[in-house]
Amino acid sequence: MSWALLLGLLAALLLLLLLSRRRSRRPGEPPLDVGSIPWLGHALEFGKDAASFLTRMKEKHGDIFTVLVGGRYVTVLLDPHSYDTVVWEPRTKLDFHAYAVFLMERIFDLQLPHYSPSDEKAKMKPTLLHKDLQALTEAMYTNLRTVLLGDATEAGGGWHEMGLLDFSYNFLLRAGYLTLYGVEALPRTRESRAQDRTHSADVFHTFRQLDLLLPKLARGSLSVGDKDRVCRVKGHLWKLLSPARLAARAHRSKWLGSYLLYLEEIGVPEDMQARALVLQLWATQGNMGPAAFWLLLFLLKNPEALAAVRGELEQLLSRTEQTVSQMTTLPQKLLDSMPVLDSVLSESLRLTAAPFITREVMVDLAMPMADGREFSLRRGDRLLLFPFLSPQKDPEIYTDPEVFKYNRFLNSDGSEKKDFYKDGKRLKHYSMPWGAGHNQCLGKAYAISSIKQFVFLVLVHFDLELINPDVEIPEFDLSRYGFGLMQPEHDVPVRYRVRP
Ligand code: HEM
Repeated sequence: MSWALLLGLLAALLLLLLLSRRRSRRPGEPPLDVGSIPWLGHALEFGKDAASFLTRMKEKHGDIFTVLVGGRYVTVLLDPHSYDTVVWEPRTKLDFHAYAVFLMERIFDLQLPHYSPSDEKAKMKPTLLHKDLQALTEAMYTNLRTVLLGDATEAGGGWHEMGLLDFSYNFLLRAGYLTLYGVEALPRTRESRAQDRTHSADVFHTFRQLDLLLPKLARGSLSVGDKDRVCRVKGHLWKLLSPARLAARAHRSKWLGSYLLYLEEIGVPEDMQARALVLQLWATQGNMGPAAFWLLLFLLKNPEALAAVRGELEQLLSRTEQTVSQMTTLPQKLLDSMPVLDSVLSESLRLTAAPFITREVMVDLAMPMADGREFSLRRGDRLLLFPFLSPQKDPEIYTDPEVFKYNRFLNSDGSEKKDFYKDGKRLKHYSMPWGAGHNQCLGKAYAISSIKQFVFLVLVHFDLELINPDVEIPEFDLSRYGFGLMQPEHDVPVRYRVRP
C-alpha cells in the first residue's frame, strides 16, 4: 500500500471519528441507539431490511427510540395511537418537505431555487379534486381501454404470457401518463390511438429502468455501470417529457397545465422543467402499478375473494342499462358501490404499502404520546413513522396479520369496517398507505378510482390466470422499504386473453 493511500485512509478515519463524536441521551429524550460503527451507525442494517431492523429495535427499546443512521439521528415512533399528533403538527415544527427536496436533488437532479412547497400545493391540490377529479377519472377509463384492449387486439387472439407486475405496472402507468400528460390527438383516431400506445410504451419501459435502480440511487450506492445506465435513461426521459414535446399534446390535464404554469412563474428553465416532470411521473405513477399487482395476485391466489369481487361486479352490471362495451365511462356512483373491491384494495395496501412518513424536526420539541408520556425531540433530527409495522402488521390489531383476508374491511352487513382496536382503544389510523394529516396523498381519490377501473376492465374483458396455480406469493424486494408500495423480489408469470 502506498504512503499516500495509507495517509488518505487515516485522514478519512480521523474525520469519521471526529464527525461521530457520540452524543448522549439527555433526560426526557427517547432511548438512543448509535450502533457500533462510527457515523454510519445502523445505516447498513437499515438499508438492507428496514422492517426487520426496526422490529428488532422495537423489541429492544419499545415504541419510540432514536437511532443513528448515516450521520443522522432518526427518532422512530411506532405507536399508532400517537401518530395523529405528528401528522397534524404545523410545518414550522415538523416539516415534510425538507426531505422531499433532498430526494428531488439526489434522485432526479432537480434544483428549484425559488420553490415554495406550499404555493405549489395550493396550485396543484384543486386539480385533483371535484370536477377536475371527475375529468381525470373519465380520461383514465378511456386511456385504460386504449392501452389494455388495443394492445391485446393488436397482439391477436389467443393467450399471451407476461409477468403480472409487468402487466399491471405497464398498463396503469401508460394510461396514467396519457391521462396526466395528454394524448396524441383529439378527436382520437385509429392512428392516434396506435401512436398513444407506442409512445406510452416507450415512456413506461424507460421509466421502469430508472425505477429499478431507484433504491440504490437514493442511497448513493450505484455501481459505475449503473451510473452510466441511469444517465442514459434520465437523458431519454428528459427528452420524452420535455415541455416542448408536451406542448404539442392534446387533452392535457389541468394538473399538468397548473404545474407548468407554476414552474414558469418561479422562473424554472425548460431543461429543469423536464426534470421536474420526470419526478412527477414517478410521484404520480410509481405506486399504482405495484398496488394493482398485489391486488390481482391476492385475488388469483384466493378463489373465494375473486368470486366475491366477480359477483359484486356482475350484480352492478346487471343493474346498468348499457353493456360493458357500450360504456365509455364508469360513473363515480358505480365506482362508489363496490364495497367488496374496496375491502380487497384496503387489505392489499395494508399488506404491501410501506412508506416512511418522515418529518424534519425544525425546533426543539416536546412530543406527547397518547399514553401520557412525553419525549423531547432535538432540532435537526428526523422523525420517522413506519405504519407498516404498526398498525398494518400489528397482531394486536389484526388477527393473523400476514394473511390476506378479502373481507377484513367489511362488516357483516356489507358496509365498510372502520373500527379496529389496540390496547382496548379504538384507532384513528388503522392503516396508512396514503399517509395522513397535512401531507396525506393528494392523489388518493384519483389513484383509488384508477386502480378500481383497471381491475374492473381486466376482470370484465380478460381471462387472467396464473401459469402455475401453486406459485408462492413472492417475497418483497427488501431494498424498497420507505418508497411507498413494495415490489416483489421477482415477477409472477400469468397468461391472459380477451374474453370471447
Ligand atoms: C397507489 C397510489 C399512491 C400511493 C400509495 C400514494 C401514497 C402517498 C404517500 C404515503 C404520501 C406521503 C404522505 C406523508 O408523508 O405524510 C403521498 C404524498 C403525495 N402524493 Fe401520493 N400516492 C399514490 C398516488 C398518487 C397519485 C396518483 C398522485 C397524483 C396524481 C399523488 C400525489 C401526491 C402528492 C402531491 C403528495 C404530496 C402531498 C403534500 O405535499 O403534502 N399520489 N402519497
